[in-house]
Amino acid sequence: MGINVPAFVAAEIEIMVREIDDLRQEAIAAIGAAADLKSLEELRVHFAGRRSRLREILSSIGKLSAEERPIIGSAAGKAQRVIDNALEQRQAALEALSESSDSFDITLPGRRPHIGRKHPLTAMTDELVDVLRSMGFSVADGPEVDDEFHNFDALNTPADHPARDEHDTFYLDDGNLLRTHTSTVQIRVMQQQPPPIRVISQGRCYRKETVDATHHMVFHQIEGLYVDEGVSLAELKGTLTTLGRRIMGDRTEIRFRPHFFPFTEPSVEFDFSCTICAGEGQIQGSRCRVCKGTGWIEIGGAGMVDPNVFRAVDYDAEKYTGFAFGFGIERVAMIRYGIDDIRLFLDSDLRFTRQFGG
Ligand code: PHE
Repeated sequence: MGINVPAFVAAEIEIMVREIDDLRQEAIAAIGAAADLKSLEELRVHFAGRRSRLREILSSIGKLSAEERPIIGSAAGKAQRVIDNALEQRQAALEALSESSDSFDITLPGRRPHIGRKHPLTAMTDELVDVLRSMGFSVADGPEVDDEFHNFDALNTPADHPARDEHDTFYLDDGNLLRTHTSTVQIRVMQQQPPPIRVISQGRCYRKETVDATHHMVFHQIEGLYVDEGVSLAELKGTLTTLGRRIMGDRTEIRFRPHFFPFTEPSVEFDFSCTICAGEGQIQGSRCRVCKGTGWIEIGGAGMVDPNVFRAVDYDAEKYTGFAFGFGIERVAMIRYGIDDIRLFLDSDLRFTRQFGG
């Protein structure tokens, strides 16, 4: 200390100056560590507030002796400036921090990941495939763009056959076409392997249809083919009955109606009894909307494989017999899920798909 004061005064001054220094250091450390604006405010009150020790010292300066006054005054003034400065800086830093974190509130719940679910058509297809696989069918696949041979000729439908009209489809420039049914896969499988054959195939098919609530130019079929020695129509009926009961319910009945397909002989169309009205045709006195009062729901086509089809794939038509069946998956899904317009299957509105579980 460069001031010439009596020893006892010097000792007193030294104690006060040390106190001021300690206060300053304590304040700087605490302010620097303040975690939020609230604790900073508490520190401001404590170290720089009206009733703080520093203010007390400053306001008592007037009562000090002439020797003490400048030394204590300058130490306390300096401490006050340093503390004010520290408070200001920390405040700015904490404010900047809270502003930048405004957009990220860590206390909010996380965003749920979007979990997809099966489209009803996929769910229906999977179910059909599962049931048929459990009955011993394996799954075969074929192209959607195919040739006339696989779609028509090998299926006993020559170029001038009137049945081709019903399967009017989209032809490509190279002469290929968009398959009109999954029966193409029957031919592909039989070309590749000898009997016994027990396969199913499912997938997209195309026809030049006028689109309405029950028809679409893009739709899906599932097809079955069983070829071996001694396969009978009774087995076809048993297979379809089992399938119907597993899909539509235990009490489902099946009925065959005579029909014509070029590639099966005899041919049938098959219906399942209506599960909505339990085959009654009416519910509480009013006509059942699903089966239109008939008690039956048309499902698809089937029959015994025509010997000409076996000849087209070099199978021994004398030795082998077989059955085939095919039907539209949309139709079954519409009944199963109560969907009244086939166009909804192709709707991108998620409100449609979200109605179906799993
Ligand atoms: N392929 C026929 C159709 O699309 C259905 C069918 C398949 C009929 C197998 C008989 C046997 O109409």
